Amino acid sequence: MNDDFHYIVSRRGFLIAATGAAVSASLRPARASTVDERRIRVAPSQARLSGPGGPQTAVWAYDRTVPGPALRLRQGEPIRITVENELDEDTTVHWHGIRLPNAMDGVPGLTQKPIKPGENFVYEFTPPDAGTFWYHPHANSLVQLGRGLAGALIVEEAEPVAVDRDLLWLLQDWRLAADGQIAGGFGSMMDASMSGRLGNAVTINGAAQAALGVRAGERVRLRLANAALARMMALRFEGHRPVVVAIDGQPCEPHDPEGGRLVLAPAMRIDIVLDMQGDPGSRHAVIDDFYDGLAYALTSLAYDTAPPLRAHSLDEPLALPRNPLPTPVLANAVRQEIVLQGGMMGGGKLAGVGGMMGMGMPGMNGAPAWAINGMSMTGDGHAGMTPQFTLERGASCHLTMRNESAWWHPMHVHGFSLSVLSRNGSPAPHRQWQDTVLMAPKDTIECAFVADNPGDWMLHCHVADHQMAGLMTVFRVT
Ligand code: C2O
Ligand code: CU
Ligand code: CU
Repeated sequence: MNDDFHYIVSRRGFLIAATGAAVSASLRPARASTVDERRIRVAPSQARLSGPGGPQTAVWAYDRTVPGPALRLRQGEPIRITVENELDEDTTVHWHGIRLPNAMDGVPGLTQKPIKPGENFVYEFTPPDAGTFWYHPHANSLVQLGRGLAGALIVEEAEPVAVDRDLLWLLQDWRLAADGQIAGGFGSMMDASMSGRLGNAVTINGAAQAALGVRAGERVRLRLANAALARMMALRFEGHRPVVVAIDGQPCEPHDPEGGRLVLAPAMRIDIVLDMQGDPGSRHAVIDDFYDGLAYALTSLAYDTAPPLRAHSLDEPLALPRNPLPTPVLANAVRQEIVLQGGMMGGGKLAGVGGMMGMGMPGMNGAPAWAINGMSMTGDGHAGMTPQFTLERGASCHLTMRNESAWWHPMHVHGFSLSVLSRNGSPAPHRQWQDTVLMAPKDTIECAFVADNPGDWMLHCHVADHQMAGLMTVFRVT
């Protein structure tokens, strides 16, 4: 554990040095195009994670690129995506956050047969909600996601917010060995029972990025998506004031993030609007400081020397149109409770911090390290998973989630978006709907949703190690 810890720190140092270099790489802007029919190939490939000219890392990729192609769909328009598996092992694709028919949800054993090597599967759905979503495998998830399989899925609003540019940062966290290749040892008990497999190199759209070139006075919509296995992030834009306009693809009341930090757990997305208020020629760091003592510069905003695009910030409204989510009726809602249990005692944000060396660790000898309501469901999904509870179609569900463990968990529900009601008794302030809710140690969260979509649906922690080791369950809508 200590080795890992120092390793991360030293690699961090390397990363900071790399991103501090005076190289100006402009980040890939999201481009608009209509996609009705797509094919995606899943295959081994190579990627230059430290940027152009850097060493090649063997990865697994959608359409040979890391991350996979950003799919741009239209709200309410059907899409057909054929996934071809050219890996040596089974895979599936899960369309994270999209409310779709259960058979298209991509959970092996539960909603479909896994896609065998050389075979393909046709996914067909009509995205009901506009927003920022993503896709990833739901088979051997820890390894497949950890080797690079992830991509953004953007469903465009009929009327987007007025901005000068619409950008995407898909963030990935890689554990690289000294030779620049992805380190083995996926699923170690140490990772599984603590903070999960944290990496040592964070990339934006597939590469370390020294800077995002910006123009004074412009207004940017930035879609942030955390596709890391385990790394929580808390982003600060020095000298800037991001306004949060959507969380997990669902519009919320536009608001300043608490303390100016955007907390982005694995699988979460946050859309911000950023007015470029810096001076021409100036440079401002974007800092991730989630883990105490391990802050680093993710990238920076590098202003060109052109005069400001406009004298004053745009005065356009920032609120996005609401998606057609059914409103839960709390008065007669069915109450369910989910209790998260397990993990190493002591806890903390990071393995190696907090002085819990030498404490007892549950889950040794290959036993599951985590449980929900006393039951461990391990892996990615398989046939014969017994639902934790059953809801009648159309019922409102008031779901309480209690984290009894000493660790952080981004809890994710498939097929639905949750109206977040309260955290530790305080009402949630921004009318947010989320498919992934970050729970701090000992947190209690209340949320609600309408069970309008029949099928067996997953509910799990999105720290891949935790999911694999038992922090997963299934519920049924009849
Ligand atoms: Cu994005 Cu079951 O997960
Ligand atoms: Cu999901
Ligand atoms: Cu977890």
